[in-house]
Amino acid sequence: MKTNGVVNGAFETTRLDVPRTEDENVSILWKNIHYKVNDWSSFTNNKKVILHSVSGYFKSGTLNAILGSSGTGKTTLLNILSGSQGCSSGGGRLAANSKIYVQPKWATSYFIAQHVHENLIGELTIRTILQYAFAFKNGSSARRLAASHIAQTMSTLLLPEKLLDQPFCRCSGGEQRRIAIAQELMALTAPNFLFLDEPTTGLDSVSAYETMRCLQQLAKRQHITVISSIHAPNQETLFLFDQLYVLAKSLDGGVCIFTGPPSYIRPFLESNLPTAITDTKSPPIETLIKIACNGNGKLTK
Ligand SMILES: Nc1ncnc2c1ncn2[C@@H]1O[C@H](COP(=O)(O)OP(=O)(O)O)[C@@H](O)[C@H]1O
Ligand SMILES: [Mg+2]
Repeated sequence: MKTNGVVNGAFETTRLDVPRTEDENVSILWKNIHYKVNDWSSFTNNKKVILHSVSGYFKSGTLNAILGSSGTGKTTLLNILSGSQGCSSGGGRLAANSKIYVQPKWATSYFIAQHVHENLIGELTIRTILQYAFAFKNGSSARRLAASHIAQTMSTLLLPEKLLDQPFCRCSGGEQRRIAIAQELMALTAPNFLFLDEPTTGLDSVSAYETMRCLQQLAKRQHITVISSIHAPNQETLFLFDQLYVLAKSLDGGVCIFTGPPSYIRPFLESNLPTAITDTKSPPIETLIKIACNGNGKLTK
């Protein structure tokens, strides 16, 4: 099955033979990302493969999800794509033929880690946090633009203005995630990429939907390529994404078993594994994640 030029299916995404970054509006494309680390659990000098030759691409101005059960390599892939994990960092090594193409060439990106409360001082008010971030990102000459930029960013992220005088630790989990996003967006020039590691984990389904909806608006309005790992979105949240990239654990490391828009999951399963979708009530993404957990990285029940 072909989806926007990417071949879906276990082990098959390596057949991706683009880059046609210009004509297809592709902002990031990766080929044969093969990443291995020294195995902690082994006394010998064994290597453990975390990502097994995965390939794919995302288009600019879209909201994209990296899905998969725990330990499939979502955070590792995000780190590699965002450049925060170099070719030989984090105790690991990228294979020599692993390639990443980004557009524009000198793209700017921000990374929002999973545990935002660990990076922000709880006693500071939201106003102080955002004013500091604005000063750091724009310098003192832009000070007069701070108030309007803060107000505009708060409104895009559906954060009420009255929150500005509240300490960070008294905000709800959903608000805290969006404040961490707002902090990164304090530069007057929007970044080309925004990477987020599980921004909805630990949130209730309504807050999770709200957070992802803000990110969708951000992607469309400011033409940012938003790439987020996400654990188990409900159907409504899932359909906010333009493109999904589903990782599964295999004996040889994490592999991609599906890439495409959410509406393609059902036809994909129907044509590749019709016996898996006997239960028409459960959303197809649940079936796909169950397959992702089966441990062999192949499309078997
Ligand atoms: N530096 C490392 N050394 C050894 N194992 C690692 C290292 N980094 C990640 N791993 C292992 O790789 C797997 C994938 O990790 P991760 O990318 O964090 O997965 P996810 O975000 O999907 O939960 C996990 O089993 C993790 O224990
Ligand atoms: Mg992770």
